[in-house]
Amino acid sequence: RKPVTTVKLQKMKASKEPISMVTAYDYLTAKLADEAGVDMILIGDSLGNVIQGHESTLPVTLDEMIYHTKAVTRAVKSAFVVTDLPFMTYHGSLDTTLQNAGRIMREGLSKGVKLEGGAEIAHAVKALTQAGVPVVGHLGLTPQSVHVLGGYRIQGKNSEQARKLMEDAKALEEAGAIAIVLELVTEELAEWITSKLSIPTIGIGAGASCDGQVLVFHDMLGYEPDAPAKKFVKAYAQVGLAIREGIGQYVAEVKGRKFPAEQHGFKGDNEVLQYLYG
Ligand code: KIV
Ligand code: NA
Repeated sequence: RKPVTTVKLQKMKASKEPISMVTAYDYLTAKLADEAGVDMILIGDSLGNVIQGHESTLPVTLDEMIYHTKAVTRAVKSAFVVTDLPFMTYHGSLDTTLQNAGRIMREGLSKGVKLEGGAEIAHAVKALTQAGVPVVGHLGLTPQSVHVLGGYRIQGKNSEQARKLMEDAKALEEAGAIAIVLELVTEELAEWITSKLSIPTIGIGAGASCDGQVLVFHDMLGYEPDAPAKKFVKAYAQVGLAIREGIGQYVAEVKGRKFPAEQHGFKGDNEVLQYLYG
């Protein structure tokens, strides 16, 4: 498979080939996602929730994003890898924003960054693009602003909000964004924005009209079996149940002295040496 580039993503929009995107935070997950044929991999700051156990993405640091980006990029051969700039790392001076994104590109070897927000961060999008950093925008429900928005709710529900969202999308496009994630916006609004932009939209809880779709890895594989279902998520496996059952079985077998069995052990010096040196 040929590496996915910004040019390829643009072509996919033009030819109406849907873009598939999933989050990943570690080497083996990224390897599996890449092998499965996903077009884009996002090291999302959702790792604050699903990896670190926080209630929001706000506590996630730049160093943590870089740590996870390094693990992911070691695995990926084809997918276009994008890393979230975490909370408040792109709202100071342009200098600081460029330095922070630069670290993600140089140390993490990511191919781009994602920023939440519209017209108010367009100048940062432009500066990053001019410096050689592809930028993905993120509009609608922007989790880094959860305390301003007052919760995780559908955005752009009335016409005034919808118009504002469209203006933001246009501002991001004009500033050079390569794509825009639309999170938790109505299907109608997502369709309207998608039709007015020349760059791809990637939806999550934004309906089927977007140019692509993104889901959080743990959500799409049923990693948290006891969590309340999210309406916009489809679970393509029940990984959480499989893991809990597997570990439960292991515990039972250790306690019952069923594991390790005969074939898992080593006898004598020769077998050990053979295992170690082939
Ligand atoms: O952090 C994340 O996983 C995201 C996606 C949900 C788009 O931003
Ligand atoms: Na995010």
